[in-house]
Amino acid sequence: MAIVALLTLPWVTPAAAQQSVSVESPDKILSVTLVIDGGIAHYRVDRKGAPVIAPSRLGFMLKGGGKLERGMKIIAHATRSLDERWEQPWGESRFVRNNFTELRATLGEQIKSKRRFDIVFRVYDDGVGFRYEFPDQPQLKDVIIEDELTEFTVARPGTAWWIPAGEWNRYEYLYNRTAIAEVGTAHTPITMRTEDGLHLAFHEAALVDYSSMWLRHVEGQRFRAQLSPSSQAWKVRRTTPFPTPWRTIQITDSAAALYQSSNLILNLNEPNKLGDVSWFRPHKYVGIWWAMHLAQASWESGPNHGATTDNAKCHIDFAAKYGFRGVLIEGWNVGWNGNWIGDSGRNFDFAKAYPDFDIEAVAAYARKKGVRIVGHHETAGNAGLYEAQLDRALDLYHRLGIDSIKTGYVADAGGVLRTDEEGREIWEWHDGQFMTRHHQKVIEAAASRHIAINTHEPVKDTGLRRTYPNWVSREGARGMEYAAWGSPPNPPEHEANLVFTRMLSGPMDYTPGVLSLQGKGDNRVASTIAKQLALYVVLYSPIQMAADLPENYEKHMDAFQFIRDVPVDWEETRVLNGEVGDFVTFARKDRNSRDWYLGAVTDETARDMRVPLDFLEKGRRYRAQIYRDGAGADWKNSPFDLAIESRTVSATDTLDLHLAAGGGAAIRFTPVK
Ligand code: NOJ
Ligand code: CA
Repeated sequence: MAIVALLTLPWVTPAAAQQSVSVESPDKILSVTLVIDGGIAHYRVDRKGAPVIAPSRLGFMLKGGGKLERGMKIIAHATRSLDERWEQPWGESRFVRNNFTELRATLGEQIKSKRRFDIVFRVYDDGVGFRYEFPDQPQLKDVIIEDELTEFTVARPGTAWWIPAGEWNRYEYLYNRTAIAEVGTAHTPITMRTEDGLHLAFHEAALVDYSSMWLRHVEGQRFRAQLSPSSQAWKVRRTTPFPTPWRTIQITDSAAALYQSSNLILNLNEPNKLGDVSWFRPHKYVGIWWAMHLAQASWESGPNHGATTDNAKCHIDFAAKYGFRGVLIEGWNVGWNGNWIGDSGRNFDFAKAYPDFDIEAVAAYARKKGVRIVGHHETAGNAGLYEAQLDRALDLYHRLGIDSIKTGYVADAGGVLRTDEEGREIWEWHDGQFMTRHHQKVIEAAASRHIAINTHEPVKDTGLRRTYPNWVSREGARGMEYAAWGSPPNPPEHEANLVFTRMLSGPMDYTPGVLSLQGKGDNRVASTIAKQLALYVVLYSPIQMAADLPENYEKHMDAFQFIRDVPVDWEETRVLNGEVGDFVTFARKDRNSRDWYLGAVTDETARDMRVPLDFLEKGRRYRAQIYRDGAGADWKNSPFDLAIESRTVSATDTLDLHLAAGGGAAIRFTPVK
């Protein structure tokens, strides 16, 4: 399995000798080679014998310890393999296969300082994960990381889809599409397609007590890990022993396979630490929300206050009538008046309601109606204040039977506020080490009360839902709210970009389903009505909002039926076709019935596609309820042109689907008795 070569050249000292160790993926599609060249560790990745990642450096810049990169030697190495299957409590598929070959190598300095670390590669047929593990050692106790020296040199030219890191916003950008060589400093996941059709995505897994990795373009197609900043003169501070997050590279020959290869990220996370989490039920919710984004209601108290007792009861009635479990109520707690963003939420009280919101009465009413309130904690990035109030805030919700909370950290990048031991205000980044610790505190405190968390303005997802299945969703990209007030708003290609970039990292609370297609003022949702329905299948989340105003749903009862029907928990997911930023079609099987669902979306280009229905159970007949773009539909001029039809189909049929410009299709397949 491992091939070791030790080449001692006469003119170099033994420490600088070239060493290399290789390991192949289970079906020998990918191979990783660890090479020590001139005392510096490099890795390379080949696919079917051809380079994908050219030799790229490994190492660290340590504060007070200089570089941890030179004078390295492979002291020991070992390989092993694993092929297992594990079950998700909820997800895009019930079972996940974890099939890899592992190479673990111990690297040690052969110079005055004798520091060492392990580098561990897990090689899958569709991707690679690697991480550093620092063992306990007398010569390295307090590890202060100024930055990582980990590099990624893409061996083949191509195109990249990416958003900038280290800019004013967190992750809420439109996706850039540039040559790989023209990427700047990017967040992960960053997706690439090489000229010969290989699809790559770079990301990380298990980001725990560490700072997020950005990819900084160095030159040509070479990138270096750049850790998100902290308020200190370093990025990460840890005590040995500890591992870094896994650096992941997904490598497939199609966009559809790239999406599926994301299982790698879940596989590299620790198994569920919470035990039985059946208390979390995937669900759909409505809310006192879109009206605020339309500026028809306000978060702050006053004449247009959205979160009043009466308005909450109306929303609860609506949810009960149409079968939604949750009602999100934003703006019920004091602190929104004045400039809550500019003042970093210093006035928020997470347990005190505005006088026109009787939280006890609303909670009692929800209980009576069989509906759950979805709690809301907007912090404006004031994580320090939130931590100080956390127990009190969670206890209140818990007592009222509220078992899911949307949190929020609206603040510019670098605008997360905390106070130090002396009470001085200190500023951090949304994706730095402080915030990865903060989120873990919140997730664990919520889990102990059987509460699920959906984080807005989060740190990016790195698969921690496997370990903490109550961290159910996040925002972390431009969501539907940008259709209300974004400048510019989300264009028709946005969701086809998201699927192959942001969505590779995990569920997103995109908040689809605006059937009125109406934003704030004259702003319009750049979509047909059929596409709004398709998004429930295309953009996965175990909690999905029906984002529009209740009265708008009652104007579109026919289309609304699909939103009522569509499940949020899946037995199985298949990507039937797709190209990054252009279009994608998903088929997903409901976890709680025999029904299948299909969702397809396109960008600004109309498309005709043939979709074989071979995912359906053989020998069974299904009623297909099809919600598709009408013949004259297009997002600009005729977005409400929706055709709804019913047909009997089976696995041997092929469906001809027409997607309008900015359009989509949504289908429910129910077995016929
Ligand atoms: C931004 C969130 O994404 C949005 O959903 C929320 O309504 C506002 N912050 C206020 O918390
Ligand atoms: Ca496109």
